[in-house]
Amino acid sequence: MTQPRSWLFVPADSERKITKALDSAADAVIFDLEDSVAPGAKAQAREVLKGLAGRDGGPQWWVRINPLRTDEHRLDLELLGIADIHGIVLPKAESGADVAELAHRTGSIPVHAIVTETAASLFGLLSYRDPNSPLAAMSWGAEDLSAALGASSKYDEGGELSFTYKLARSLCLAGAVAADVQPVDGVFADFRDEPGLLAEARAAAREGFTGKLAIHPAQVEPINMAFTPSPEEIAHAQAIVAAFAAEPGAGVLSIGGRMIDRPHLTQAERVLARAG
Ligand code: COA
Ligand code: MG
Repeated sequence: MTQPRSWLFVPADSERKITKALDSAADAVIFDLEDSVAPGAKAQAREVLKGLAGRDGGPQWWVRINPLRTDEHRLDLELLGIADIHGIVLPKAESGADVAELAHRTGSIPVHAIVTETAASLFGLLSYRDPNSPLAAMSWGAEDLSAALGASSKYDEGGELSFTYKLARSLCLAGAVAADVQPVDGVFADFRDEPGLLAEARAAAREGFTGKLAIHPAQVEPINMAFTPSPEEIAHAQAIVAAFAAEPGAGVLSIGGRMIDRPHLTQAERVLARAG
């Protein structure tokens, strides 16, 4: 599996939660050394990660390290090379230069950058395009951004995300696609609201995101479901591919009374790739 649908965060200082996360159906587990681990517990969290037994199937292993240019960041990097770590999650990234700075030390290890957590980050979303970068995914975050901006809430009066956070989300999506890496939707914090999560994940999938961050094991199944193409979507995509294969010279065709042209073929091929 190249593009995880569900990316489940687990605080790295909790062995109990780590066991649960690794037993879940998450496509990727992110051992968190940053915001969910108190400053006084970070050293112990690193010891927990050092003690993890080798990986045997199950989710990909990712580690969210502390932001660049912090003392904790340097200590976190010493962990790499131990355990079967698939990749690094970089929080508070502000531009492609940050990914390059990290890669200078971590080489070709894949990087998933969280790209909308500071005020300046909103101006850097096009800068991740770099064919030589180990960047593999980009996701967005509203919690740190609202704190950075001094917002009292990320919601408007109607309970919807305010414009600023919708903007961050769309810029993350377009920035990731421009950089040819996976666009990953942000966290849905209300982990007891499964219908709400499913609706948000389905909306993200319709818009082009191909995965979503999770913070609780109960969020994994709804996310996996939302980002798995349905049998109807697969059948429709196969019909489009077959129609163009049958008429290789055609630029535009019709299926079921609807115009189908090259962008539809591109999208159909994407759906089939995701369906595996
Ligand atoms: N990964 C693995 N297991 C988890 C988990 C996670 N992210 N979140 C909860 N669990 C476990 C709990 O330990 C509990 O197991 P137990 O009954 O054996 O102790 C079980 O799932 C049910 O948990 P629940 O009681 O519903 O939630 P909680 O109140 O214990 O935890 C949070 C709520 C938010 C503290 C917890 O979900 C969490 O730590 N999430 C990750 C936060 C994080 O990493 N944030 C950083 C990115 S934004
Ligand atoms: Mg954070």
